[in-house]
Amino acid sequence: TNPSLLILPGDGIGPEVMAEVRKIIGWMGDKRGVTFDVSEDLVGGAAYDKHGVPLADETMAKAQKVDAVLLGAVGGPKYDDLDFSVKPERGLLRLRKEMDLYSNLRPAQCFDALADFSSLKKDIVSGLDIMIVRELTSGVYFGEPRGIFEEGNERVGINTQRYTESEIERGARSAFELAMKRSKRLCSMEKANVMESGILWREVVTHVGKDYPEVELSHMYADNGAMQLVRAPKQFDVIYTDNLFGDILSDCAAMLTGSLGMLPSASLGAPMANGRPKALYEPVHGSAPDIAGEGKANPCACILSFAMALRYSFDMGEEADRLEAAVEKVLADGIRTGDLLNDAGVTPASTSEMGNAVIAALDAS
Ligand code: NAI
Ligand code: MG
Repeated sequence: TNPSLLILPGDGIGPEVMAEVRKIIGWMGDKRGVTFDVSEDLVGGAAYDKHGVPLADETMAKAQKVDAVLLGAVGGPKYDDLDFSVKPERGLLRLRKEMDLYSNLRPAQCFDALADFSSLKKDIVSGLDIMIVRELTSGVYFGEPRGIFEEGNERVGINTQRYTESEIERGARSAFELAMKRSKRLCSMEKANVMESGILWREVVTHVGKDYPEVELSHMYADNGAMQLVRAPKQFDVIYTDNLFGDILSDCAAMLTGSLGMLPSASLGAPMANGRPKALYEPVHGSAPDIAGEGKANPCACILSFAMALRYSFDMGEEADRLEAAVEKVLADGIRTGDLLNDAGVTPASTSEMGNAVIAALDAS
């Protein structure tokens, strides 16, 4: 049977960038004989407009069954005043929660052609290829007690950083597995110097590491990690860290690489019966209401998210390499959407021109 893929384009530029991925899926069928069972459904504001909820139960059930979900983006000004319980973002949160996607993969890869776009010097980022694995379902964003409470004559805001051994362990395993497929180096980041959860984190990761003797494991305090990411990011291969530190460190690493329009992500859960992890792939960017409907969006983040799906859900590493190389070729040829241009004198490529250029590069590869 063909691998199955559920496409959820969502709102704003979501459907625009997803249209370019669909072209690539079509190309793979025609030219490479690789066919997917693709279904498409609504999420976010688009689902709210039709069903009154940002993710219908039926869609949720489909997401649980397929090999991978590919999502565009959700949200937009039209939905800003909706009740919290039906906001577009809740559709995405429901997917992550019910699929129990605990391992968030955020690559920071600097295409040479875009090294000038980094916030850092070219030689620091050129050739950069690191992967941050962020624990996504626990930690201080979810720990109890939480709330704003009265204490004496003032209020106190409380959140709790809480990690169980099994939560740390399952994320660590996915990070080690990833390191095995890459350069076999894993750096775990916490603050074991000042946090109990950090002490446990270091212990558990060290323990899991015994199952992966080939992987060179190191530990770093997360504040130093932030500094090192900016000073010498190429020293890293895979970084494993908690929900809060991962949120910050991955955004920091993202800016080493240039535009938001280039950044893919994957969120993985436990292996299903077929051995593949539950998986949701999505660009890091949002629905970009400021450019939606104008054909200006950069489709690369979504295309590269699909490449991650090829690699991590469908065991098609070579197809993924081919697609990433095609994107790199297009950038090197100077075909770029507006977010990748500094020179106001250059006419930017449209979303579909960019997608067509990727197809042309695939054809030539
Ligand atoms: P955003 O990522 O949508 O846009 C930030 C800036 O980057 C904008 O100027 C936008 O034009 C630009 N940009 C983003 N993606 C681009 C692309 N592919 N090509 C070219 N330029 C691009 O973040 P913002 O403006 O904070 O949020 C807009 C809406 O998206 C909100 O409703 C927000 O809640 C939602 N959002 C959804 C996310 C998701 O679906 N995972 C993530 C972040 C925000
Ligand atoms: Mg963030």
